[in-house]
Amino acid sequence: MDSYKSSFPNNGSCLNLLQEALCADLDFHGTNSKHATHGWHPFPAKFPPQLPQFFIENLSDENDVVFDPMFGSGTTLVEAARLGRRAIGCDIDPLARMIAEAKLTAVSSVKTLETGYKIVDAAKRDLCQDREQLEQELNRRFDTKTRAFVDYWFLPQQQLELLALLQGIESLTQAGMRKFFEMVFSSTIIAKSGGVSLARDLAHTRPHKVADKNPNSAFVEFVKRLKHNLVSYAKGPTGLPQPGLTAAQNVEIRTVNADKTGLPPSSVDLIITSPPYANNAIDYMRAHKFSLVWFGWKIDDLAGIRAQYLGHDAATGAQFDCLPQQCEKTLTRLAERDSKKAAALRRYFGEMSTVLSEMRRVLKKGRAAVVVVGSSNLSGVDVETQKGLAAIGENVGFELAGIGVRRLDRDKRMMPARWGKEQRSQIEKRMHEEYVIGLVKP
Ligand SMILES: C[S@@+](CC[C@H](N)C(=O)[O-])C[C@H]1O[C@@H](n2cnc3c(N)ncnc32)[C@H](O)[C@@H]1O
Repeated sequence: MDSYKSSFPNNGSCLNLLQEALCADLDFHGTNSKHATHGWHPFPAKFPPQLPQFFIENLSDENDVVFDPMFGSGTTLVEAARLGRRAIGCDIDPLARMIAEAKLTAVSSVKTLETGYKIVDAAKRDLCQDREQLEQELNRRFDTKTRAFVDYWFLPQQQLELLALLQGIESLTQAGMRKFFEMVFSSTIIAKSGGVSLARDLAHTRPHKVADKNPNSAFVEFVKRLKHNLVSYAKGPTGLPQPGLTAAQNVEIRTVNADKTGLPPSSVDLIITSPPYANNAIDYMRAHKFSLVWFGWKIDDLAGIRAQYLGHDAATGAQFDCLPQQCEKTLTRLAERDSKKAAALRRYFGEMSTVLSEMRRVLKKGRAAVVVVGSSNLSGVDVETQKGLAAIGENVGFELAGIGVRRLDRDKRMMPARWGKEQRSQIEKRMHEEYVIGLVKP
């Protein structure tokens, strides 16, 4: 595994180091972003592992605490663990937690493959010999609304196959093994092709029903994903604990809102994170519910979690006044075109104020926070999210080291796809680059 440790001056302050780091090539094109456990489950807008690796190697030391308040698929956490740091992460999304926990647990390839085949064999047997029991269980598992959702998006055969697999996974007693297979199960559903459901393009969070789709067998997809994951894992080196199915030490995952992390003040050495897009361009829950309903989540519960997403339309009680001039100027420009979108953007900036303020609180003095964000074009206005968040960062007491730019590799980073009639949508045009905001707590 290449190191990204640069020869920045050793005696430089964190501010100098961060300024230099932001001028480096942050594109990471031509690198393998699926090594270790990174390619195990699709997740929109996850960053290449080289990005957190670069900042972790250059801005922290072994055993330092690296924190990601919106960890998503856990890229920062995996890299921090791999590089011998203590990792802490928060996210409100149950699927994010499931994916990150699995990615942070070492697997023994041989034993895992054997277990996977046993699960599939038993599921096939159950489907053949005990179809009625599976049908009864399907009726028992979901409440009316959730059942209607499942019936709308999954054909009866795939429902039965998924349930048969799930029962095998639920019977596993080893927690690490179970987490791994839950994640494999989920990745048979959340896939670019729409997986085993009737949806198209689930991985981009824009499900669209294709009524005449002939979805693959869940058994076939499950084995495919299992082998894919174990091959990429075996190609390591992961740096994660080696076989024995133990979770990486020194990793703490919290299912809490990024604005109330519960961490002690001045306890973190480095923050690396990326918040959702300003205009809710990536609606995570819209896709994640396809998987989560199988793990006992009700559609209504998931709607409640969705409402807590940063930038979501629901009112959250955050303070939306006292925004910096930079934000107010953008909001005025946008309001002239679209007052509804301006109100939503105000909410996003307001919520990000509380999150950045919380980040400043938990960070140690003199240490860095790196915030990766894409901009958005709303009603023809480039809202320059990066400048807004940088100004908010300064407003809550950070020193701005600078804003780096990285060109996205469209082949790798999963962004909202072209959609509907508007083939060349504005959002797509803006999404060819993203910004890396460097902040230091003075
Ligand atoms: C752009 S993704 C992060 C991707 C991550 N960097 C990765 O590599 O996988 C943004 C994440 O923010 C999370 N999020 C949204 N609102 C949140 C909130 N209020 N508190 C904590 N996390 C939140 C979402 O669940 C999502 O996982």
